Amino acid sequence: MTDQAARYDRIAEGYARWWAPVLSPAVGRLLDRAAPWLADGAVRVLDIGTGTGQQAFGALDRWPLVSVVGVDASTEMRAMADSFAERTLGATGKRFRTEVAFADALPFPDGTFDLALSSFVLQLVPNRARALREARRVIRTGGVLAYVSWLHDDRAFTPDLIFDEVLESLGIGGREPDGRSGDLPSVERAARELRRAGFAEVAAEPDVLEHRFTVDGYLAFLSEFDEESLFDELDPRLRDRLVATMRKRLTLLSPADLTMQSPIVFASGRRSGR
Ligand SMILES: C[S@@+](CC[C@H](N)C(=O)[O-])C[C@H]1O[C@@H](n2cnc3c(N)ncnc32)[C@H](O)[C@@H]1O
Repeated sequence: MTDQAARYDRIAEGYARWWAPVLSPAVGRLLDRAAPWLADGAVRVLDIGTGTGQQAFGALDRWPLVSVVGVDASTEMRAMADSFAERTLGATGKRFRTEVAFADALPFPDGTFDLALSSFVLQLVPNRARALREARRVIRTGGVLAYVSWLHDDRAFTPDLIFDEVLESLGIGGREPDGRSGDLPSVERAARELRRAGFAEVAAEPDVLEHRFTVDGYLAFLSEFDEESLFDELDPRLRDRLVATMRKRLTLLSPADLTMQSPIVFASGRRSGR
């Protein structure tokens, strides 16, 4: 079990409610980009780090001939994907199945899939080079890997700065690192990593993921997902003070200050040769 798998086991519900919808527009754009490969006849699709399944469900909805296998390191995220599938997919659910697996040790024979997709996962895997080689291995010759991930960004999001200030003013310790040290430093690096892993016809393009938080939405995102363990460990009275102080400060922000604009990269490569 990696730290990330354990973290996502804890925050699966908060993820589904507060973070999956933030990522959803970029997931939709990755599926737009995948359309030509699907039109070319790709039907066996792997979703690496499927999470609550939003990308897999999008693919099943758009392409009626496609079957998707979703793998995830977190048992709880996988369970959530299965439960959403059961409740919402109906007969389409027959084209979806999940497995608990790590991106760098995929439990499939060589050449099993026509297309591998992955959204907001490769920044988390401990060894991305190995995960990329593993994705290439399970794709058939001529098949494609396409992913979206975060680009490294030094700019601070104003609500995050306010959170740090409020924590300090209330004498609460600093935040835990979020385990996202693997954000891609550049689009060139994303392309280079794919080439090194043996992919051809490599493409990598920058984009921006924008999300306008409401005050309540940002507070719920912090307390139920991003900083869930910090909130959980606080004495209830201190927790109430933290929420009240944050709410007061956030209410003074303009809509622009509450709008997150994070750089992302869409990258893809084809498995050519053996
Ligand atoms: C930010 S979520 C993205 C989920 C989904 N792809 C989406 O777009 O909504 C990251 C997911 O990657 C999974 N994950 C983290 N490290 C992983 C690894 N090494 N192998 C497979 N999955 C991993 C987490 O459990 C989590 O479900």
